Amino acid sequence: MHSPSLPAALEESIAQAGQDHVLRFWKTLDGSARDRLVGQLAAIDWGMFGELRRLARASGPGVVAGAAAALAADLARAATPPCYVLGDDADRAAAAGRKGLTAGLFGAVLVAGGQGSRLGCNGPKGVVPVGPLSGATLFDLLLGRLRGIAKRYGRRVPLAIMTSSATDADTRAWLADHDYGGLDPDHVLVFRQRDLPAVDAAAGDLLLDAPDRIAMAPDGHGGMLPALVAAGGLEWFADRGCRHVTTFQVDNPLTMPLHPEFVGHHLLDEAEFSTQVVHKREPGERVGVVASDGKRTFVVEYSDLPAALAAERGPGDRLRFHAGSIAVHAFALDFLRRASAAPDPLPLHVAHKAVPFLKDTGERVSPRTPNAVKFERFIFDLMPLARRVCLVEIDPAEGFAPLKNPPGAAADTLAHVQAALDTHARRILHRAGVVVADGVGVELAPWILDEADLDALLSPGSRIERPTVIGSGI
Ligand code: UD1
Repeated sequence: MHSPSLPAALEESIAQAGQDHVLRFWKTLDGSARDRLVGQLAAIDWGMFGELRRLARASGPGVVAGAAAALAADLARAATPPCYVLGDDADRAAAAGRKGLTAGLFGAVLVAGGQGSRLGCNGPKGVVPVGPLSGATLFDLLLGRLRGIAKRYGRRVPLAIMTSSATDADTRAWLADHDYGGLDPDHVLVFRQRDLPAVDAAAGDLLLDAPDRIAMAPDGHGGMLPALVAAGGLEWFADRGCRHVTTFQVDNPLTMPLHPEFVGHHLLDEAEFSTQVVHKREPGERVGVVASDGKRTFVVEYSDLPAALAAERGPGDRLRFHAGSIAVHAFALDFLRRASAAPDPLPLHVAHKAVPFLKDTGERVSPRTPNAVKFERFIFDLMPLARRVCLVEIDPAEGFAPLKNPPGAAADTLAHVQAALDTHARRILHRAGVVVADGVGVELAPWILDEADLDALLSPGSRIERPTVIGSGI
């Protein structure tokens, strides 16, 4: 018996799983440290732990052994499914979308639980400033866009924001300090995804990150489904009149998850799962691809797509798998309800990572190469469960400029994002007949969705001669 504060049932679960080493420093811990450790241990699903161990031991990087063979077989038969192209059926789809938005049929889910580790940021990515002139953060821009939608269609868009243990407190603090980004707090729901333990890659054992802390990591954006259900999110959206939700990632300030043509196609096709794609042109682009074998449509993550298949080209020199997923989806709420009732609808993916840990001696080791396995669920794995899937190809210049990498990388850095925001603003101003002097920086307030919003601000033929944020303060 370690202490009255370690419940006997928990101690037994730990012992049965062969994980007593996590209590190695118990005797040295004070009361609050013990409470912290017990809290973490009690949150572990010990019934599922054996499965995590099995997966860790069976896996190479990426998909789990066994699953890799199944994926290769699926891909051998698969091709890129048909996509709508934004603009091709603009009138019909946009009219349907506008009708749906005006009726308030859509809510939105922002997945913001990731740690931005590639960027070297520990807190929420949402607080990173990206506005080229304004210094507006990702949260400012993304929430501002929803204000633009509400302004245009006369309906607030209920927004659920998914956080994780790594981002929850800072995200809530940001919302409180920034007036919820101008949104109505009654229409904002913050919910937190779960953590899963990281385990030692060789033995599948838990790792201690500190004497009173197990190494854990967020369970992937697929954790959205169980976490949203647990937070009562499906009813929350339904109570606000929504029948569908779009989901989008915190790292893409150009994103347009409620573009009327996109949601219009979703509605017209009576799709359960719609997704935006960009034309993937080079095998090395780090986007998942959408594939279909005629029966099932599914997404293959870039890290799971075998190099030879990623590089294969077909007619017109297009990549065989060229529908690049940008992780902007629309779901029917009924579909999410049905999927969440299915037993274990989202498989676990494994990622080999370098995870710091304590040795038996208490010395902390920070490995440079992967020593551990983290587990994640991906929301796009719901796609094969959907009765109807709809793909809409967008122009990346209009809707995809993700911030993924630190300065100096070849793509997806802050500089790339800011250049994309600048180009996007210039395109819209140009379409509105506004002239921007050469070399002058320009930025649009995020609520400006397109040139229609400029009518009241600038007349055609007007000139911008100095760096300007258009529409700020509105
Ligand atoms: C992701 C997609 C990839 C897509 C690309 C487009 C997955 C697995 N990969 O890749 O197919 O082409 O974006 O930009 O979907 N997140 C959470 N909780 C987590 C993990 C992530 O909320 O536990 C959120 C992050 O905050 C971020 C988003 O999910 O908003 C993407 O996560 P990230 O790990 O950066 O995915 P990518 O590798 O960039």
